[in-house]
Amino acid sequence: MRIEGRDYKTIWLDADGRRVHVVDQTLLPHRFATRTLASAGEAARAIADMIVRGAPLIGATGAYGLALAARENVGDSYIEAARAELLATRPTAVNLRWALDRVSSLLLAAPLSERSALAYAEAARIAEEDEACCEAIGVNGAAIIAGVAARKAGDTVNILTHCNAGWLCAVDWGTALAPIYKAARAGVALHVYVDETRPRNQGASLTAFELLNEGVAHTVVADNAGGHLMQHGMVDLVIVGSDRTTRAGDVCNKIGTYLKALAAHENGVPFYVALPGSTVDWSIRDGVKDIPIEERSPREVTHISGQAENGDIVEVRLTPKGSPARNFGFDVTPSRFVTALITERGVCEASESGLGALYPEKLGAF
Ligand code: MRU
Repeated sequence: MRIEGRDYKTIWLDADGRRVHVVDQTLLPHRFATRTLASAGEAARAIADMIVRGAPLIGATGAYGLALAARENVGDSYIEAARAELLATRPTAVNLRWALDRVSSLLLAAPLSERSALAYAEAARIAEEDEACCEAIGVNGAAIIAGVAARKAGDTVNILTHCNAGWLCAVDWGTALAPIYKAARAGVALHVYVDETRPRNQGASLTAFELLNEGVAHTVVADNAGGHLMQHGMVDLVIVGSDRTTRAGDVCNKIGTYLKALAAHENGVPFYVALPGSTVDWSIRDGVKDIPIEERSPREVTHISGQAENGDIVEVRLTPKGSPARNFGFDVTPSRFVTALITERGVCEASESGLGALYPEKLGAF
């Protein structure tokens, strides 16, 4: 994506192909800055502190984290320890495990002398594939948006989205926002309702930043507004991303997604989930039972940060000092509330047979 007149991905290597650079998402939308990751430990901290975030991007960062580790030491135990450190950073998005397994299994089977180069090459492949997948999701999802626009005879299509599943969550394009970018660039008149997405406000800070930058009409709404908007016919479709989707089509995504799906179901609004194949966890069926839900620091609930009038980024307390808080990062939307999954291979029912038709090679693998 183009920011301040320059093309950016969310992650890239420096000219000598060693150190890793990322966009620092903790400063957005107030400041656009990049960070350098010089070691596996720095990559792990960047994921844990959400300097990088979003399921596909933490997968790519994990892969580059292993490449940084292999630059330090190519021994089995060092690679395995780095893998464990990276994996422990965030438990819900399955792309992290998927990418770490892909790189580490390759490395551990290779001669020591080849490991470092192999790790960088595989991490780069993961990043390139992610970008291509997200662009294909964009094409497949844009056809759905164009269909709605045709039914509305060219009237503005109103889309609701939750959290940030745009280019900042992936290497480029994003998942849920990719169809929006493709449709908007094709001339479809659309408008996006952006859930603010408490507690970390990825919608208000990141999705709004992206849409503003891309010139897509949008309105930020409080998380609790979605039901009201749908009751009043103000939303034509919902598109969200996913951090882990089971083989049966249950969708785990940012906390609050489930409530939007319930409201969409009640009001007959189509509810789509956009995801690359790397977000499907083929080893599980029941998302509510089997997906670990990350619980982050209560401070993200009790406090909020933003930009003061003098330009400083400040944090203020919202709650009384004695009130306990809990911070659940994700929830699970059962497949019956999902109209369809939008993937890089096409659009399918949120079910084992739907996913299996698109990814037949995965069905027997578990
Ligand atoms: O906690 P985050 O910001 O890493 O959460 C990820 C998300 O942005 C969303 O859940 C998103 O919808 C899925 S990531 C493609």
